[in-house]
Amino acid sequence: MKILFVASEAFPLVKTGGLGDVLYSLPHALHARGADVRLVLPGYRALLSQLDQVRILGWIEVRGAEGIVGARILETRHPDYAFPLWVVDCPALFDREGNPYVNASGHDWPDNAERFTVFARVAAQLAQDVLEIGWQPAVVHLHDWQTGLVAAFLADQPERPKTVFTIHNLAYGGNFPYSDFVRLQLPGQWWSSEGVEFHGGLSMLKAGIVYADAVTTVSPTYAAEICTPAFGCGLDGLLRSVQHKLHGILNGIDTAIWNPSTDVHLPAHYSAGRILPGKRRNKQALLERFLPHADAAAMQAPLLGLVTRLVEQKGIDWVLAAIPVLLAETDVRIVLLGSGQAVYEKKFARLAKQHPDRLFVEIGYDEPLAHQIEAGADLFLMPSRFEPCGLNQMYSLRYGTPPVVYKTGGLADTVVDANAATLADASANGFVFDKPEVSAFLAAVRRALELYRQPKQWQQLQQSGMRQSFDWSDSAGHYLALYSL
Ligand code: ADP
Ligand code: GLC
Repeated sequence: MKILFVASEAFPLVKTGGLGDVLYSLPHALHARGADVRLVLPGYRALLSQLDQVRILGWIEVRGAEGIVGARILETRHPDYAFPLWVVDCPALFDREGNPYVNASGHDWPDNAERFTVFARVAAQLAQDVLEIGWQPAVVHLHDWQTGLVAAFLADQPERPKTVFTIHNLAYGGNFPYSDFVRLQLPGQWWSSEGVEFHGGLSMLKAGIVYADAVTTVSPTYAAEICTPAFGCGLDGLLRSVQHKLHGILNGIDTAIWNPSTDVHLPAHYSAGRILPGKRRNKQALLERFLPHADAAAMQAPLLGLVTRLVEQKGIDWVLAAIPVLLAETDVRIVLLGSGQAVYEKKFARLAKQHPDRLFVEIGYDEPLAHQIEAGADLFLMPSRFEPCGLNQMYSLRYGTPPVVYKTGGLADTVVDANAATLADASANGFVFDKPEVSAFLAAVRRALELYRQPKQWQQLQQSGMRQSFDWSDSAGHYLALYSL
């Protein structure tokens, strides 16, 4: 089966979060099961600079905001990819420094509506093999708002592939003013509350939900949550009305890249059968990165880790409120790697200055350090207010670093709270709190610290998580079944 993936990021070429990880690991899981896959990405400057050999497949011209825009379609083989990548090279829209979605000051690129409309128009053409390269997909799999319009462009084509639209995060709607809809000359018949219109503007995410043949999201619990007003971001009514085509399929993780017994970023390796010596060496190295002389007291104390985008979704305000309490009442050390909203970055930097021996903060994006925190920390904090799936809690489970999570979305689907019953039947793998408030988060951390002092039980908890299978086998099968419906 030929499947065309269309997305705005993919590890290791361009990644801002879990979306990038999934766009690497899911198509590979499908490829391993015999699917014939292509992945189309925008030709960002940072991406183009990593390509070695490219072949020009052809040129496609589509409508932009000020007239016709031309794009060169490149095909490339990347050493990390088992299948060809297609790149939409359109310098006016994508050849610029920095992040795919925002400029250096953290604001959305002002021409995002045009960038992702042009990208979608080109992808829709590729899906219909306008270049006549003889590769006609049966399914086009779209990811998040940046690709929502592809489903709309294809919807009224007589001979067309099936479209599947995956919502990785409903909170990012791809919302633009009506003036963009007009400037981009999008089809007038789309403009209705049954179409792409959302509160007087254009929603590219809504386009994906309305026009795709099937809609998925990345965990069963989130699939149910987004049909409620509390999590629906104003789209819960629409999502309830399309429940017949809405599916929750849990993400997997790449168990080759995220494997504590082979991880290239780790100073020491370990596995479920023998955790302690390797994990201690990782802890020591991690502490020494921040404290030139990590003494016995620092090694003895529980080390809490976080790797996160610094945005409201991730419960960052709860973390900021909890840290002073935890530092005052316990001997914990805390290490945080994150980047995102400037106000959060500043607050963490200030707090770290006040506690230089206890709180270690690295603001920025650092793939190796993310792995080292998963391995070197004792406990992983991920108190997201909502979490469509979440990959970090699965990475931490696999690295023997039990997570503390709020009971929502994919966190609820992957973390089993440690209590008397779940410890007795060895199903416990972490700590879950179910009230959205800082006191509940703190109570869960305190429970975790108590168990940490009981090495036998703690090791059992670590092993339960490490032995779980979070690979793609089940979920890739669900996607293949959906493609064939
Ligand atoms: P989300 O996609 O909502 O950010 P996920 O848990 O699904 O959350 O995925 C986050 C991914 O991004 C993980 O691979 C994590 O390691 C990575 N990540 C997040 N922030 C950073 C950072 N500052 N540096 C390195 N990796 C990060
Ligand atoms: C989004 C979500 C995250 C999910 C990831 C991959 O970034 O916030 O929960 O794991 O997409 O699907």
